[in-house]
Amino acid sequence: MKILEATGITKVFPGVVALDSVDVSFEPGQIHCIIGENGAGKSTLIKCLTGVYTPEQGEVRINGQDALKQKELFDKVAYVPQEIDLFAHMSVAENLFIPYEKSGFKGMVNQRALEKAAVPVLERFSIPVRPDDLVKDISVSSQQLLQIARAIMHENYDVLMLDEPTTSLTTKDTQILFDIIQNIRKQNKAVIFISHKLEEIFALGDVITVFRNGAKVAYSEIKDVDIPWVIRQMTGKDVDQNQVYYSNKVTDEVLLEVDNLTGERFTDVSFKLKRGEILGFSGLVGAGRSELMQAIFGYLPAYKGSVKLDGENWKLGDPTFSVQHGFIYLPEERKKQGILPVLSIRENISMAVLDDMKGPLGISGRKEEELAQKVISTYDVKTPDADKEIQFLSGGNQQKVIIGRAMCCNPKVMVFDEPTKGIDVGTKAEIYRLMKELAEEKGIGIILISSEMDEVRKCSNRIIALYEGRKVGEFDSSSDKEEILSAIIGVA
Ligand SMILES: Nc1ncnc2c1ncn2[C@@H]1O[C@H](COP(=O)(O)OP(=O)(O)OP(=O)(O)O)[C@@H](O)[C@H]1O
Ligand SMILES: [Mg+2]
Repeated sequence: MKILEATGITKVFPGVVALDSVDVSFEPGQIHCIIGENGAGKSTLIKCLTGVYTPEQGEVRINGQDALKQKELFDKVAYVPQEIDLFAHMSVAENLFIPYEKSGFKGMVNQRALEKAAVPVLERFSIPVRPDDLVKDISVSSQQLLQIARAIMHENYDVLMLDEPTTSLTTKDTQILFDIIQNIRKQNKAVIFISHKLEEIFALGDVITVFRNGAKVAYSEIKDVDIPWVIRQMTGKDVDQNQVYYSNKVTDEVLLEVDNLTGERFTDVSFKLKRGEILGFSGLVGAGRSELMQAIFGYLPAYKGSVKLDGENWKLGDPTFSVQHGFIYLPEERKKQGILPVLSIRENISMAVLDDMKGPLGISGRKEEELAQKVISTYDVKTPDADKEIQFLSGGNQQKVIIGRAMCCNPKVMVFDEPTKGIDVGTKAEIYRLMKELAEEKGIGIILISSEMDEVRKCSNRIIALYEGRKVGEFDSSSDKEEILSAIIGVA
C-alpha cells in the first residue's frame, strides 16, 4: 500500500522547468531518502506534495484520494521546510502552538497554559531551552529541532517530510533527531528525508530516489548501493572523495598576524597566515571560530590584542575598512548576513563595488550587467539571467555569487565560514577547487572554518583547533583525525 503517490508532476518557474513529469510514491514504515544536486528540484517536489505549490500537471494521491481536489488531505502530511521558519521575536511556547485554534487553544490565549503545554514537548525532543525564551536567543540547532518538534508533536499525520533537517544541527542534536525518526518508522508512518550528507542517508534510509535537473534518474533500496553509485547518479560523473585540495604554493611571507586577540567569546588567540596558504579552523559549534573572524573583520568587538595585515597595523571594528583593505568574511548564515534575498543577482553583486558602478547618470545599468555576467560565467552560476532574485537560486549557486562578488573587491585574505553548508557533493568539490585556485594563483590567504573534519583535513595546509574560545592545538595536513578530534572536544 502506498500512503502517498504522485504521478506526472511538472512544475515550471520563469526560465526553468523545476520538475519534469516526476513519479514518486511512499510506503508506510519506510524512510525514503531523496538526494540530488543543488537546484535539482527536491524542495519543489516536497512543496508540491504538501500543498504549498500546485503543480502545472500531475496528480497527488494521499491514501488513494485526489489531494489536489481535496486540499484537506494534505493535513495528513507533516512538513518541515528547508529554511528555518519561526517567529524570532516570539517565545518558544508561542512558536510551538501557533496557530492557537489548530492546537486546541481557543479564545484568549493564556501564556501560562502555553508554557505549561510546551514543557513535555521540549523534554521529548531534548531541546535545552525554556518555554518563555525568545526564539532569537536560542541556538540555531535548537531552533531547527524546535521547528521539527512543532511539525510532528500532534501525531495525526501519516507522512513526514523533512527537507534538509540537519544542516544546522549539532552532532548531538542530529542523533536525537535520528532516534525520533526511527521511532516514527516503527509507528508505520512514511518518512521522506532530504539531505546532502551521504553518511546520514546510509545510516538512516531504507530506499533512495535520485534527482537530476528536475527529473527522477534513479531509485534503489539503500542496501543495494554505495556512495560512489549515489554520486554517479547525482552528477553523471565520478567525484573522488579522497582527493585533497590544499595549496601547493604557500609562500614564506606572513600575510596576516594575529596576536593575543581577546573578545567576548575568544581569549588570547594568536596565529599567522601566509600568502597562498589555506588555514583551517576546527572546533565545535560555539568554540568561538566565527566570533574570532568576525572580530578581525569588524562586526564584533575585540578587547585586547593586535592584528597586522601585510605588515601594517590593522584597524579593528570597521567592516567597511576591512572590505576596502582586502579582508573579506563570507558568513555562514548566507540568508541573514550574506545577501539581500529579494534583490536580483545583479544588484547583489554590484552593491559590493557601487563606486565602480557609477556612470555620468548615477549607477550604470550597463556596468552592473557586465560585471554580473562576468561573475556568472567565471563561477559557472546556474541561472537563466542576472535578473533572477537571488533567493530563488539554489544554495550552491548563491555561494558562487557571493564568492564572485568578493573577488571584485581584490581580497588579500578571505574567510570562508562553513562554505559548503547545504551544498551537494559535486558543487562542494568545485568550491574546494576554487579556494585552492584563489590561494595558488592569486596568492590569497584563505581561512576555512568548517565543522566537517574531513573537509578541513582535505583543504587545509595547517589546522588550528579552538576549544571554548582558546587555541588548543595546531596541526599540519598529515595529522590524524583522532588527534584533532581530541583537541576540539577539550581532552588533548
Ligand atoms: N519560487 C521560485 N521562483 C523561481 N525559481 C525557483 C523557485 N523555487 C525554485 N526555483 C528554481 O527551481 C529549481 C529547483 O529548485 P529547488 O529549490 O527545488 O532545488 P533543490 O533540489 O531543493 O536544491 P537545494 O539542494 O539547493 O535545496 C532551481 O533552478 C531554482 O532556482
Ligand atoms: Mg532544497
